[in-house]
Amino acid sequence: MAEFTLRLRRYDPESGEAPYWEEHTIELEPHRSVLEGILQAKNRFDGSIGIRCSCRAAICGSCGVKINGQPDLACHTHLGRAKKRSRDGVIEVEPMGNMPVIKDLIVDMEAVHWKKIRRVTPWLIAKQPVPEREYIVPRESMVDVTQSMACIQCGACVSDCLSMEVDPEFIGPAALAKAYRFVGDPRDDQTFERLQDLAEDPHGIYDCTHCFQCISACPKGVAPMSQIMRLRRRAGNDFHIEDRNNGERHERAFVSLVKQYGLLNEAELLPRSYGGDSPLAKFKPSFAGEAANSLPVIAKGLLRRKVRPAAVLKPHKLARPDRDQIKRIYDEVEGREARAEFNIYISGKDEDR
Ligand code: FES
Repeated sequence: MAEFTLRLRRYDPESGEAPYWEEHTIELEPHRSVLEGILQAKNRFDGSIGIRCSCRAAICGSCGVKINGQPDLACHTHLGRAKKRSRDGVIEVEPMGNMPVIKDLIVDMEAVHWKKIRRVTPWLIAKQPVPEREYIVPRESMVDVTQSMACIQCGACVSDCLSMEVDPEFIGPAALAKAYRFVGDPRDDQTFERLQDLAEDPHGIYDCTHCFQCISACPKGVAPMSQIMRLRRRAGNDFHIEDRNNGERHERAFVSLVKQYGLLNEAELLPRSYGGDSPLAKFKPSFAGEAANSLPVIAKGLLRRKVRPAAVLKPHKLARPDRDQIKRIYDEVEGREARAEFNIYISGKDEDR
């Protein structure tokens, strides 16, 4: 038996009082979970501590909380490990982010998470005619969606999503991972419609800013950001959907700039996003019109000295000395006969060779 101190964030919105921290010392073996520690504190010291849990085996996804600032499942985190990772030897537990608190460690999943999940039509729309017996599905198609199927809807990725902090309307990592589960399923009849809908939505697939937070937060290896990138590749490369948010062209501009210079030339990013993949994009009439709409973004770029007017007009001289190596990476990836999708869940590695 060892002693652990838990610092719990307490808050009851109905009381009208501000949130506060409360410490309890519990006794358990270090391999027991943070959830068991919280339940012991609840049983021994204060029955009013609010925590949601059910399976206690990392299956139901109910016990998502932040432990020492990181979202995780309380039932899946050892006390000993949590103490080692704490700042001062005290295990800090607080409710997940990006969702309103109902009480103490319980957040309102309905208000954010489940609402967004429903947004992506989270069920299969069967291809017609439905076969008399079962659909025959290629093995590799099912392997492709296995990673998104592993989601237990705990909300850890939603809690840590930086895009959602800035834009609460963003459909979000959990719902978009769920969307890929059906987009990647060959039995679904609405692949194009789903992709078009998610690409055209200003809070859809192009609203993700690639911060990787959802990948580190997910306790099940779902890698929601990777599923969002899969959706983008299906929408842009396979179905050639050019969305009205300019997301697909903006992404292409990133790729072409890094390929050309070995680094991102931000002064050319906007012209290429609107005018196409050429250094002359800034002189195209299509850019002039869009540039007028983007004046606030351009003004911010100028104020932060990310963009200098002279640099925009002059040909870009800056290039990494090792850009040939970068070009070789492009050649290898673009030279592949078929696109290779990473699937950490199946291979156990972060690259399928
Ligand atoms: Fe079910 Fe933790 S209690 S996942």
